[in-house]
Amino acid sequence: MYREAFGRRAGLSSSASGVTRHFLNLSDAGSDGLKAILAEALKRKEARKNFPRGKSDIDRPLDGHMLAMIFEKNSTRTRASFETGMAQLGGTAMFMPAGQMQLGRGETIADTARVLSRMADAIMIRTDDHAKIEEMARFSEVPVINGLTDDSHPCQIVADLMTIMERGKSLTGMELAWLGDGNNVLSSIIEAAGLLGFNVRAGCPQGYEPDSTFVEEARARGARIELLENAKAAASGADIIVTDTWVSMGQEHVHNKMAAMAPFQVNDRLMAEAKSDALFLHCLPAHRGEEATDSVLDGPQSVIWDEAENRIHAQKAILMWVNGLIG
Ligand code: CP
Ligand code: NVA
Repeated sequence: MYREAFGRRAGLSSSASGVTRHFLNLSDAGSDGLKAILAEALKRKEARKNFPRGKSDIDRPLDGHMLAMIFEKNSTRTRASFETGMAQLGGTAMFMPAGQMQLGRGETIADTARVLSRMADAIMIRTDDHAKIEEMARFSEVPVINGLTDDSHPCQIVADLMTIMERGKSLTGMELAWLGDGNNVLSSIIEAAGLLGFNVRAGCPQGYEPDSTFVEEARARGARIELLENAKAAASGADIIVTDTWVSMGQEHVHNKMAAMAPFQVNDRLMAEAKSDALFLHCLPAHRGEEATDSVLDGPQSVIWDEAENRIHAQKAILMWVNGLIG
């Protein structure tokens, strides 16, 4: 079983049934696990071409499995892709908005984890403080999957990397430019860079740089992570341009941010700085006219709809990995 060198975020825990695989961050899968997840996602997508979305894959590898999905924050893609993904794998997903759970009235995370471990075969949770998901993993006897925290969004990056691979680009050595807020999505991109050997130029305004722990870990693994306060310098010659909202969920109270972010808007002028065949990605939801213009979001280099669809295929491969069926 893989155990990552950086134990702080390691996602393995002992349980009554042995070692449980959690997916709290990409490092939990490690380089080999992440490559196996990407290969599985691409393979399953290809194998079910033209199937109706709710029809299961031929092999139904998670037949009868139940996924509990706890949401402490809003979601469209993550919820729909896990629900559809579980159906395609032969299982079922149950949607549990935290505000309607006893969790929302003070039941502890530990007790919630103990109970759901008896009612589900895996737990996905979207929450704010990353410590909550670590606590869930500590007390859960079934795999816990990070559906987004304030720190990271690993499931999203599996879909992003898959989308880039589908377009025939090699991940090794690619130059990925991030423009805008140094947020949770960027942290997982930086983590992936360390695991897979690509380079990141983070173009973020002063005060909005990415989490230094993720940066240092990726650098220690050999990735070049550049922190640039100039949008044009970040985008120049890039293979991939990525952005995200300037105001993540839970940060709505942050003032004076928009003015600092304005020079980092991805528009036609900035796209022209990248390679002519560069791809544009955005995890969505987009705030059109803020972090990216309509002309870029809907333009010929944009792969955002493939990226959104690939959330399904990525979630399925992650579910296969936590269940020990791949990697
Ligand atoms: N990209 C993403 O995670 O979207 P949702 O917030 O809609 O799940
Ligand atoms: N950075 C965004 C991602 C949304 C999918 C957020 O955390 O709100």
